[in-house]
Amino acid sequence: MNRGAGVANPLGYLDATLAQLHAEGLYRTPRELTGEQQARARFDGREVINLSSNNYLGLTTHPKLHEAAMEAIRSLGVGSGSVRTIAGTMELHVRLERRIAEFKKTEAAVVFQSGFAANAGTVSSVLGRGDVILSDELNHASIIDGARLSRAEIRIFPHRDLAALERLLDETREYPHRLVITDGVFSMDGDIAPLPGIVALARAHGAIMMVDDAHASGVLGKAGRGTVDHFGLHGQMDIQVGTLSKAIGALGGYVAGRQHLRDYLIQRSRPFLFSTSHPPAVAAACLAAVDVLEQEPERIDRLWDNTRYFKSALARLGFDTGVSETPITPIIVRDSAKAGQMSDRLYALGIFAQAVVYPTVAIDKARIRTIVTSEHTRDQLDRCLAALETVGRELRLI
Ligand SMILES: Cc1ncc(COP(=O)(O)O)c(C=O)c1O
Repeated sequence: MNRGAGVANPLGYLDATLAQLHAEGLYRTPRELTGEQQARARFDGREVINLSSNNYLGLTTHPKLHEAAMEAIRSLGVGSGSVRTIAGTMELHVRLERRIAEFKKTEAAVVFQSGFAANAGTVSSVLGRGDVILSDELNHASIIDGARLSRAEIRIFPHRDLAALERLLDETREYPHRLVITDGVFSMDGDIAPLPGIVALARAHGAIMMVDDAHASGVLGKAGRGTVDHFGLHGQMDIQVGTLSKAIGALGGYVAGRQHLRDYLIQRSRPFLFSTSHPPAVAAACLAAVDVLEQEPERIDRLWDNTRYFKSALARLGFDTGVSETPITPIIVRDSAKAGQMSDRLYALGIFAQAVVYPTVAIDKARIRTIVTSEHTRDQLDRCLAALETVGRELRLI
């Protein structure tokens, strides 16, 4: 169609928003990765040390995952063809779900296309109008969106505040169904939910208990089983969500719990019912990844060694790293423009460490979010620390 001169663009108002984002230092331009997602990688044509990926254990390029994916393409093709309830479910998807359930020590599991879909699809289908959701203020966007879609009432409790949660549980006794929901590890601050206390409160009040272990999967607990295992809470968590997109190295999300939860989600969860399942290569890679988690525990040991080394050096340099207890270590800058400037300066010095600004974090909590992985060498970490020291002094953060 010929768009004649003078025809108004009904999306013209987007330009004003984009200009404002630029002016406020909130405009994001993802750096372009060519080659593999590794500890050392090529972004925007330049080889740098990568402190930004969620590839905690280096599994994105693990030969066993690679081979499993290639073999699945050779024997099963590149696509699954449709939604599982329509075109039939691939045996591989069912095998992956059984393997995840066994790994998480639950009766059953169901796989979604992403962790986002798992959270949003579960919260929105398990809860409905007239119910109530009690949610930590720093829970992930996919939980917030799922809660909104559910049409249940949403009550937010201050971050990790057990007393406030208890008050909310007292106030909401009359609701038919109540869901208490928290991230296991908070994705921008790297702190861990006080899960034993939250679970005890939920159980005492007869509420459903759900944890989003996106950043605990492959990181916390035996062989990376997550926060439930880390705190010894097996059998006490109604719904565990995890992702296959971060430490597991591929893509996807899952919900682990009782058999009836799986059965229900297959009937009612919209991402399951209305979106095509994983390509076989992805499911096969995820299956191989669970094996690797059990067979190569030294990866998790290296991840935590590197984490301790990096965190204690940052503390010695005098950076504000907030409340982190895990490999996610934010360097709090506060001002968005300054965080962007810091990220650019680090890049110039050969380090990719992404600035995270509003709306991912509060407007006055802009930061550089770093994650070390099991695959970073000490030499690489030392070079990162030297660059951080230089830029930290330039920007008067230390
Ligand atoms: C806490 C949390 N939950 C869920 C997700 C979504 O996972 P996925 O990337 O697999 O969609 C993320 C990732 O961004 C996350 O950080």
